[in-house]
Amino acid sequence: MADALKIGIAGLGTVGASLVRILQQRHDELAATCGRAIEIVAVSARDKSRDRGIDISAIEWFDTPELLAQNGEIDVFVELIGGAEGAADIAVRHALARGIHVVTANKALLARHGVELAILAEEKGALLNFEAAVAGGIPIIKALRESLTGNTVSRVYGIMNGTCNYILTKMEKEGLSFDACLKEAQRLGYAEADPAFDIEGNDTAHKLAILTTLAFGTKIAADEIYLEGISNISIDDIHAAADLGYRIKLLGVAQRTETGIEQRVHPTMVPVESVIAQVDGVTNAVAVESDILGELLMVGPGAGGNATASSVLGDIADIAKSQPGAQRVPVLGRPAKSLETYKRAQMQSHEGGYFIRLTVADRTGVFAGIATHMAENGISLESIVQHAKQPVNGGQKTIILVTHATMEDHVRTAVDAIKAEDYLVGEPQVIRIERPKAG
Ligand SMILES: NC(=O)c1ccc[n+]([C@@H]2O[C@H](COP(=O)([O-])OP(=O)(O)OC[C@H]3O[C@@H](n4cnc5c(N)ncnc54)[C@H](OP(=O)(O)O)[C@@H]3O)[C@@H](O)[C@H]2O)c1
Repeated sequence: MADALKIGIAGLGTVGASLVRILQQRHDELAATCGRAIEIVAVSARDKSRDRGIDISAIEWFDTPELLAQNGEIDVFVELIGGAEGAADIAVRHALARGIHVVTANKALLARHGVELAILAEEKGALLNFEAAVAGGIPIIKALRESLTGNTVSRVYGIMNGTCNYILTKMEKEGLSFDACLKEAQRLGYAEADPAFDIEGNDTAHKLAILTTLAFGTKIAADEIYLEGISNISIDDIHAAADLGYRIKLLGVAQRTETGIEQRVHPTMVPVESVIAQVDGVTNAVAVESDILGELLMVGPGAGGNATASSVLGDIADIAKSQPGAQRVPVLGRPAKSLETYKRAQMQSHEGGYFIRLTVADRTGVFAGIATHMAENGISLESIVQHAKQPVNGGQKTIILVTHATMEDHVRTAVDAIKAEDYLVGEPQVIRIERPKAG
């Protein structure tokens, strides 16, 4: 049997501790599968004395990830710390500079520095594997980076944040408010004490930026993503969507258009019969639409120690199985230096269906007035209804509009015109509609 693959693991939290446990428990099976043993020879975290429920007494401890990356006698540096800057970033650069392979689950690091790190890895002949960084246990990176080579991708989208999907699912199933569902998610450990990063869509944006690069061969452009979170979604929106045959999901969508690439993260109405609409709770789903394959949809656990460690383990095993000196798969699907400049398609030019919920004064002429604003902006309506479940309330009523495919700019102009009318009460709600091809 070939020499063991020696790995150093920095970060022994939820994912790191799961990985250590799995590698220790499955040592012999992995050695048989990979043709060589995988040995953890070094570890690092912040607090050496912390009980992590794993036995690391025989493994060399480094006081910082940087020291491990610089001095560890390792073939692979596994980064499970997190964060775009600081300890993770510094250590990964040191490892790559030594030509040591890196496996990471860190979407923030890749979204911020992915291209630079890929260039460094390729210059040094090292691998930089990151399957766990997007949608946890779902092997979407390998699918895009390797299996779909040669396909022209037109759209990639998905539910990539379990916290948001848990909250939206619970709101729908139990008729509870956003705040009540967020509190429950925090109680169950699905949401952080400060949940802004998840619910405002930033976490999904990091993952989308990585998928966009793999799908379209462009440089990572995490700052160019149109972002709207779910904190604005009310139970009324969920009910209205259900009445119209839709569910609301926080989707990240990257799409090739005539003017560039659209990257957007926002609450989205998807037809209730589509497979992605059925993806409930903390589960994730990622879909790819491409010319040769057609539609691919992958559904599975997007987070959690074991699910994430499963992807990290797959990345380590790939390295263990690879022959020394063998041709490397480019980190981001094509050689990092040949990634194209990202050309952003403006959100105003986005075309799709829209759901618009308006609370208006209950008086004659309002319906006609709204229809006129729509017509003046060339917006064709699929339906315009007074919401059946909204009782007339203090002389007000709720009107729901659903448009046929139209341009975002036209919708914004029409809604702005309605905002200037004295019959409008409160802020209009506008939610984009997405029609998946897959399922
Ligand atoms: N958890 C998931 O479900 C999940 C899913 C997909 C991807 N990921 C990604 O996986 C990575 C790890 O996540 P996690 O949930 O396992 O995080 P975690 O539970 O917070 O663990 C982080 C680990 O990193 C160590 N650490 C933090 N800052 C450090 C520093 N400055 N120097 C040295 N060690 C440091 C911590 O040490 P101490 O233990 O001593 O404090 C801890 O062991 C992140 O990039 C995350 O985005 C996680």
